[in-house]
Amino acid sequence: MPTTLITGANRGIGLALVREFQAKGHDVIATARDPSAATDLKATGAELHALDVADPASIKALADALTGKPIDILINNAGLGDRADLPRLDYDRFEELLRVNTIAPIRVLDALTPNLAAGKEKIAAALSSQLGSIQNTDMAFGLAYRVSKAGLNMGLRTAAHTLNAQGITLLALHPGWVKTDMGGDGAPVEPADSAAGLYKVITGAGPSRELRFFDWQGETLPW
Ligand SMILES: NC(=O)c1ccc[n+]([C@@H]2O[C@H](COP(=O)([O-])OP(=O)(O)OC[C@H]3O[C@@H](n4cnc5c(N)ncnc54)[C@H](OP(=O)(O)O)[C@@H]3O)[C@@H](O)[C@H]2O)c1
Repeated sequence: MPTTLITGANRGIGLALVREFQAKGHDVIATARDPSAATDLKATGAELHALDVADPASIKALADALTGKPIDILINNAGLGDRADLPRLDYDRFEELLRVNTIAPIRVLDALTPNLAAGKEKIAAALSSQLGSIQNTDMAFGLAYRVSKAGLNMGLRTAAHTLNAQGITLLALHPGWVKTDMGGDGAPVEPADSAAGLYKVITGAGPSRELRFFDWQGETLPW
């Protein structure tokens, strides 16, 4: 049974991914900032660990707890949304977005690389966003969020050169505009549908090890 680790799994797309991967027979390790409050996640029966991705000590504690455990698929899902734009951006918030959306997924990937290298599938996916596509930036919306996801994409592209050599495939994923706390009620895609699409894209990545930027329906997005 493959083992899949999903961050930010207590609600939204993360929780839907836990359910989808479990339904497809995966052993899921799920992380949440506050496991004691993660009622829906606890109900899935997934192995639960505390993880605040913005806290390096928390990432180290997770890596220590998982030392020697093979992980087949890592999904860096935890993230922060933000719609703000010029003028008068909140720069403390900007830094927080960079910490959570850009630096944290790379730090988690770095910390868990030995686990991925020991796994069979060796896939590391990260929830990016189409708003992180530099080529598709055609309107002023969510400046800090766009920068944080474009930075994540660049981090993945650079990391791929190191990690491909260890047999690890990286994926940057856009989940669609999804009805979650972040996506809002007006979003057209249900979390379960996004998760089902992402499952197919992630597990269908194959051993090519070419880093691609896919949406939840398998369409390639421009960097
Ligand atoms: N929804 C969309 O339309 C959409 C579109 C494009 C991309 N995405 C991306 O998809 C991913 C999931 O989004 P979502 O819509 O499911 O968002 P969401 O409903 O707001 O859930 C965000 C998740 O991230 C966790 N998180 C935030 N900061 C964290 C931290 N410092 N440490 C650990 N966990 C943290 C949250 O945990 P808490 O409950 O503890 O806050 C929560 O579990 C994000 O990376 C997002 O950028 C979403």
